[in-house]
Amino acid sequence: MKKLLVTGGCGFIGSNFIHHLISTGNYEVINLDALTYAGNLENLADLEDNSGYSFVRGRIEDEELVSAIMKKVDAVVHFAAESHVDRSIHDASPFITTNVMGTQVLLDCFRRADRPEKFIHISTDEVYGSLGPDEPPFREEDPLRPNSPYAASKASSDLLVRASWKTYGTPVIITRCSNNYGPYQFPEKLIPLMSINVMEGRKLPLYGDGQNVRDWIHVSDHCEAIMQVLERGKPGEIYNLGGNCEMSNLQVIRTILGFLGSSESLIEYVDDRLGHDRRYAMDISKVGNCLGWSPSISFEQGIQDTIRWYEANRPWWERILSGAYKGYYLQHYGEQI
Ligand code: NAD
Ligand code: TYD
Repeated sequence: MKKLLVTGGCGFIGSNFIHHLISTGNYEVINLDALTYAGNLENLADLEDNSGYSFVRGRIEDEELVSAIMKKVDAVVHFAAESHVDRSIHDASPFITTNVMGTQVLLDCFRRADRPEKFIHISTDEVYGSLGPDEPPFREEDPLRPNSPYAASKASSDLLVRASWKTYGTPVIITRCSNNYGPYQFPEKLIPLMSINVMEGRKLPLYGDGQNVRDWIHVSDHCEAIMQVLERGKPGEIYNLGGNCEMSNLQVIRTILGFLGSSESLIEYVDDRLGHDRRYAMDISKVGNCLGWSPSISFEQGIQDTIRWYEANRPWWERILSGAYKGYYLQHYGEQI
């Protein structure tokens, strides 16, 4: 049985990934998460009594804590990050602390522990910058041209990961994925925010002209890709991941409105995001050729399942909107967050 350190496991993708890992029966997991606003222990409440799972509340910048954990694990999957572009525009400093400095602490402790076999760094298509309408999708060797403070902090972390490989031969792998959607996504991101607003009859704030394009992938497909990379990926490599599903934000919102039977009059065009990237698209042929992975969930199916999940799990997001989700830690660990 392999033991993994998963950082940021209480967030959206991390919690889906831990569920995926535990369901294989092949891994034990230590989840290190600071429980920022985006971390929700309720995402993993079903694993609380699972002997293969343990939770440590702490920050990835805490060198003493990280080096102690690193001695116990065989591999690392690093999700922990500040992840919301709008927040980074408002205040970049937490992005530098966590995404840049935290990643370096993890890399240093990983290297010194001299035991773990692989370090998977979870990155994003946003490090490549923005595409024009007719430009080909991003490839792994494309230059990094990040435009938001979030993207710049992720690009910085990618470069630190690369430097660790080049300098010390640390067995690192970088994955860069496009926009995820699915269960447990914090309702500040486009799909959960708009789905909940439609359910509540609230306005849908669409930035700019609504024609910005993102490539959408269901989080389960992303988790499966990370599993493949963990088990068979080659150290020193970068793998682009994506859903082969480019859609404008207006198209996404129309799909949600259509599924929930609501009117387009809810759409409210609002001021554009500063520096708003126009288009992302990923060339995922490398991971297909090298590891045989490709996405399997269509957007039509994935978005329906996701909206049904948010409908069926109203208490989950109501507790986030009211702030009650923070009480879970107090109740179970006796400390206030
Ligand atoms: P998220 O914001 O939902 O979760 C982030 C988690 O990290 C939270 O649980 C938070 O408490 C934790 N965390 C934050 N700072 C920490 C720190 N200093 N120490 C320990 N834990 C800390 O993010 P997500 O959407 O699940 O994204 C996970 C990773 O995947 C990120 O690295 C992100 O850049 C990357 N990514 C996300 C997407 C997407 O569409 N969401 C796409 C591609 C890549
Ligand atoms: P988001 O979910 O924040 O992901 P990212 O910025 O990392 O791609 O936003 C997805 C797209 O939706 C992006 O083009 C910005 C747009 N958007 C809106 O139009 N309105 C909103 O309220 C939000 C949160 C996003």
